[in-house]
Amino acid sequence: MTTPLLSIVIAIDGPAASGKSTLAEKLAKKLGFFYFDTGVMYRAVTLAVMEHGINVDDEDLITKLANEIDIDVQPPSKQDGRMMDVLVEGKDVTWEIRTPGVDQNVSKISAYAGVRTAMTNQQRRIGMRGDVVMVGRDIGTVVFPDAEYKIYLDASPEERANRRYKEKIARGEIASYQEILSSIKRRDKIDSTRTIAPLKIAQDAIIIDTDGKTIEEVLEETLSHLHIKPKNVG
Ligand code: DC
Repeated sequence: MTTPLLSIVIAIDGPAASGKSTLAEKLAKKLGFFYFDTGVMYRAVTLAVMEHGINVDDEDLITKLANEIDIDVQPPSKQDGRMMDVLVEGKDVTWEIRTPGVDQNVSKISAYAGVRTAMTNQQRRIGMRGDVVMVGRDIGTVVFPDAEYKIYLDASPEERANRRYKEKIARGEIASYQEILSSIKRRDKIDSTRTIAPLKIAQDAIIIDTDGKTIEEVLEETLSHLHIKPKNVG
């Protein structure tokens, strides 16, 4: 059972690197909504697991940790490219959760039932703070099945790998297209075949294929489906 929604939730789901975060951030800005990328919560648990030296196969201990950990998200406090602040026990971990080590372990940890229950509860609590654009894999199917709008953003693995590759190169990082592509395919497989809350398209979702489209085109297409008046924002 979910609590009836008093505020507007726009759920944006889709596979890794489909452009969900960029779209959601622009949408939130345009509409004056809070931006909330739920993937950061699974990333924060994964970081804590690694920092505590816990074996990634130890589901019981990781579930215990997920139930005890204090994770919060807040609007960005710095202009260093972040879209929001991610806090674990009050400590800013916004960038630590984006390391390759976290990338590698997060799909496994986010498939644990107890971890999902703990995170889903926290996501509902945060999502109900006000009008929100929420990004994830199961927002429209599990977290907020009554969301006013559900967008499923898709793109081919090759297009997504190419985008991630370009982002890394632009940041001056060393990157291999082939490695990124196989990591994306591996994560797609884990995310869509796990037993609990797998990545799937909600029945009433609007599907937007982003292959070959610019972010502005995707934003326009998304806005054309929404009947929301932007709040008084710049
Ligand atoms: O979107 P992302 O790459 O930051 O997500 C990190 C991981 O968390 C990814 O393996 C999928 C998982 N995830 C999830 O299972 N459910 C969500 N609502 C968000 C992310």
